[in-house]
Amino acid sequence: MFHFVQPFYPLLLAAAKNNPENSHQQLLKTLHHLDNNRQTLWGRWLLSNFDNSFIVNDPRLKQNLWGLTFPNPVGLAAGCDKDALGAGIWSHLGFGFAEIGAVTFHSQPGNPKPRLFRLPLDKAALNRLGANNQGAQTIAQRLQETWQRQPRQVPIGINLCKSKITPLEEAAKDYGGSFSYLQDWADYFVINVSSPNTPGLRSLQEGEQLNNILQEIQTVNEQKKPVFVKISPDLSWEAIKIIINLAKTYQLSGIIATNTTIKREGLKTKIVEKTGNPIEEEAGGISGQPVRQRSTEVIRFIYEQTQGSLPIIGIGGIFTAEDAWEKITAGASLLQLYTGWIYQGPWCIPDINKGLMAKLDEHNFSHISDAIGSGVS
Ligand SMILES: Cc1cc2nc3c(=O)[nH]c(=O)nc-3n(C[C@H](O)[C@H](O)[C@H](O)COP(=O)(O)O)c2cc1C
Repeated sequence: MFHFVQPFYPLLLAAAKNNPENSHQQLLKTLHHLDNNRQTLWGRWLLSNFDNSFIVNDPRLKQNLWGLTFPNPVGLAAGCDKDALGAGIWSHLGFGFAEIGAVTFHSQPGNPKPRLFRLPLDKAALNRLGANNQGAQTIAQRLQETWQRQPRQVPIGINLCKSKITPLEEAAKDYGGSFSYLQDWADYFVINVSSPNTPGLRSLQEGEQLNNILQEIQTVNEQKKPVFVKISPDLSWEAIKIIINLAKTYQLSGIIATNTTIKREGLKTKIVEKTGNPIEEEAGGISGQPVRQRSTEVIRFIYEQTQGSLPIIGIGGIFTAEDAWEKITAGASLLQLYTGWIYQGPWCIPDINKGLMAKLDEHNFSHISDAIGSGVS
């Protein structure tokens, strides 16, 4: 049914151009309202129409990893649903898993607005939201209520970030505190030390600091939930090697590669339309097409260094099935996207999943796991 709306999506996107953050908040509020009303007649009707339009069910795409079942490899990236407003709805939009957050121990308002810009010339976004969220305790409560209405249909992760007011030296306690509040309400957790929008956060990717955080997390991780670290595309190969070693030491379930970049080279956008400032002068991380190639290189590097022994969730600039295939064959077991979903519209999720199945046929692979790290194009 929703395919009728598809031709009008560019108009919707254009209408939302002037205030992408507000439009996004409206969407999340609507999804939350729908979840609250999932048992009403219209709620049931809408959700079953979502399911019919967006879910692709095929055993070739299904994977069991870390004791969790992923019906397809395409997940929602962190940053899209920071307060878990749509946590119960993402599965109905065809995602094989979804990551909530970033969540911080203390609630925080984020940076002053405007702080989210679309860069259509580059099929990219620039954001400096600064982990605005309602804090771990409130979000734990919301997730508890969500799962009381309806048990989780797909694995749900939580992306954890350090609170802005917490000094860097106390980061481990901050991450550990959030984890303790949330550990019962999600399936996996991500240590986000790679957002460029919390001052000093990316310095936590360095060996000793990350060591302390992972030690703390694994100490409070009573249920042995899968834990990942999410890294920046701007790290050197040496820095990535150190993180791989820490991942092994602390028995992490994998690495998420990558977050947004602070680099501005190669962008077609010279001036940010909304502020009139040169792109180099606008703080924030770039997502979308400009990070695609680098994030794939990082995935390939991790896969080669670990000989495929450490699972990778690949993310950065995925818009199409081709982009998704590129990351899987470079070594990603699962994928996530955010900017592509905004630009292409929600139909891109079934399109990517169907495109992946066509790729499996083309290469005579019987299952998606055969394609991971295969290097075929
Ligand atoms: C508006 C926005 C907010 C984001 N917030 C977060 C966040 O809170 N935590 C995080 O780890 N990544 C965050 N990201 C990064 C994305 O999860 C992802 O790593 C990055 O955007 C690259 O993927 P994409 O090209 O598919 O968007 C954010 C990205 C955008 C565009």
